Amino acid sequence: MSKLAIDGGTPVRTDPWPARLQIDDREINAVMELMQATKAGGAFDRYGGVHVDEYEVKFAEAVGTRWATGMSAGTAAVHSALGALRLEPGTEVISSPITDQGAVMPVVAQGCIPVFADASPECMNMSPEGIRAKLTDRTGAIICGHIAGIPCEMDEIMAIAKERDLFVIEDCAQAHGATYGGKVVGSIGHLGAYSLMSGKHTVAGGQGGMVTTDDEELYWNAKRFADRGKPFNSEVGSNLFLGLNYRMTELDAVIGKVQLTKMMDIADRRRAFVYKLKDEIADLQAFSVCWYPEKSDPAWWFLLIRIHVDKLTCDKATAVQAIQAEGIPMGMNYGAIATKAHWLQERSAFGRQSQFPWDCVWPDGDWEWALDVPNAWAADENHMRMGVHECCDEQSALDTAEALRKVEEAYRA
Ligand SMILES: Cc1ncc(COP(=O)(O)O)c(C=O)c1O
Repeated sequence: MSKLAIDGGTPVRTDPWPARLQIDDREINAVMELMQATKAGGAFDRYGGVHVDEYEVKFAEAVGTRWATGMSAGTAAVHSALGALRLEPGTEVISSPITDQGAVMPVVAQGCIPVFADASPECMNMSPEGIRAKLTDRTGAIICGHIAGIPCEMDEIMAIAKERDLFVIEDCAQAHGATYGGKVVGSIGHLGAYSLMSGKHTVAGGQGGMVTTDDEELYWNAKRFADRGKPFNSEVGSNLFLGLNYRMTELDAVIGKVQLTKMMDIADRRRAFVYKLKDEIADLQAFSVCWYPEKSDPAWWFLLIRIHVDKLTCDKATAVQAIQAEGIPMGMNYGAIATKAHWLQERSAFGRQSQFPWDCVWPDGDWEWALDVPNAWAADENHMRMGVHECCDEQSALDTAEALRKVEEAYRA
């Protein structure tokens, strides 16, 4: 058995981990062309330009929806998708137990209440059982995050929604190009919300977002919401309802349009890495690629590796340090357990004293049940998080497999 690098042995990998190269000359040229056109009297803003409109049409085509509408961020996309639903204040919205706060804060900003559905211990996404356990007469919508690029169990979720007459917003921020039952995420629920910020599979410059839908009324509402309630496609002559300014710019769109042409390739290259690794470690007892629904093909924003500490003589932290010492960028966990956030624990949204909107809906202060997600905590504990991207090649997968094998052999229980 070879000596672990953490104990002074030779690391499996001494080459640096591949860097993520996000853009090439196509994005640069697209920006330069926009600049030249603007210099000659063109527009930076969608009102005078053509690029946001084109990007929206192409985005909808890529996802497989009738419409898409550009946003300034993923948070703006979730907010506009929710705004489009015109939910009554106090409506409970089933939210993901592990997610970015950009998927939760819009719920409260709309005067609604996030109620967190638990995960299964094998997956960080909300589970159908977790959703059912949190439904009440006040539930109006579900925002299901496809965390790490792994689609939620959409058949079951859509069945619950139909049964209870609920809207479903798919949060696709981490799942560009992921599919479920052959459909691209964002085309299964009533609405999809994408983040196009700089860390995502595809980007619209530094920030950006997109809402997708097949429903014409929801499309117009999302577009109106993202532009101060302007009466697009309406006979009313003035702003229709409360909204904000979440418009995408032409600069975002020219970058995003090029990036969109790469979306499926980016997802496929990430899959090639993960499935190679999965094959290579199929016989290991302590480590495996995480569970994902059979009908899904995840897009792997990051990779979750299941760790079975009962098969090891060491704890998780030691295993992670040993893998890192072998030259593999392994992290302890994802850690974004939504319900742990200070603002949710303190119900701190509007003002310094008020606990609005929670105190209006649950004046007795009893809302611990809405934050209770024990399986999500277990899922976070049971998995390690690995940064993977489309530039991770076959050799990186082979090195990762070798490092996991070496650590398992050294600490085998
Ligand atoms: C699942 C999820 N939803 C929403 C967001 C918010 O997106 P943005 O940062 O573009 O506002 C993120 C951001 O990482 C996210 O991961």
